[in-house]
Amino acid sequence: MRKLIVAGNWKMNMTLQEGIELAKAVNDFFDKNPTDVEVIIAPPFIHLPDVARSLTGVQLSAQNCASEPKGAYTGEVSAGMIRSCGARYVILGHSERRTYFKEDDNLLHKKIILALGQELKPIFCCGEVLAEREAGNHFNLVREQVETALFALGAEELSQIVIAYEPIWAIGTGVTATPAQAQEMHAFIRDLIRSQFGDPVADDLTILYGGSCKPSNARELFSNTDVDGGLIGGASLDADDFIAIVLSF
Ligand code: PGA
Repeated sequence: MRKLIVAGNWKMNMTLQEGIELAKAVNDFFDKNPTDVEVIIAPPFIHLPDVARSLTGVQLSAQNCASEPKGAYTGEVSAGMIRSCGARYVILGHSERRTYFKEDDNLLHKKIILALGQELKPIFCCGEVLAEREAGNHFNLVREQVETALFALGAEELSQIVIAYEPIWAIGTGVTATPAQAQEMHAFIRDLIRSQFGDPVADDLTILYGGSCKPSNARELFSNTDVDGGLIGGASLDADDFIAIVLSF
C-alpha cells in the first residue's frame, strides 16, 4: 500500500522554544483528529531530541546526515546519532544541500546507505533548475539523479525510500509547478523505478511534490495519481497552514 506523506522541512528556522511550540501544535491537532497521512516534521539537528519528546503520532526527520558513519569529522552529525534522537526519516539531497554544499548523487548514495543501515528512511530529493527545464533537459537530469543515487540499491532497500520531486525553480519562489507538470514528472520517476525494481516496488513508492506547496494549491497537486503528498518548506512554519495542507487529501 502506497503511503501518503506530508513532510515539513523547517530548514534553518525557529528557536528551540518556537520549534517545540510548533511541533506541539501540529502533534496535538493530529492526536485529536487522526489521519491516515504520515505527518513528518524536520527540525534542525540541534532541536531533534527536544522536539521528539513533544511528539506522539507525528514522525520526526532530520534534514541531512553525514556521509561517514563516525569519527573525526568536526561539525558533522551521523545517521546513527539522528536515529538515537528518535527520528525515523532523513531528507537527503535537498537542492539547497546540492547547491550550497556541492553534494552530488555519488555522495548522496553513500548517505542513503548509511541512513538505511540505521533504519532511517531517506526522503531523497531530485529536481531541475529552470534553465534545464527550458532546454528540455529536465527528464534526463532527474533520470541521472535517480539512477546514480538509487539504482545500485536492492529492491528491499528501495522500498524504504521516499522520493521528493522538487523543481528548483519552484522552491521558495511562490511559483508552483502546475499539477500537470508535477504529475508528468512523478509518473516518469515511477516508471524509472519500475524499470529497475519491478512493479510492486514502483507501485508502493511514495513520491512527494515540493516547491511552493501551500493550502491554496495542495488539493489540486495531491489529486494527481502519482503525487503522494508534499515536502513543504515555508508553509510548514505555520501550524495552521501545515495542517491545512495535510487535510488537503
Ligand atoms: P518551499 O520549500 O515550500 O518553501 O518552496 C520546499 C522545500 O525546499 O522542500
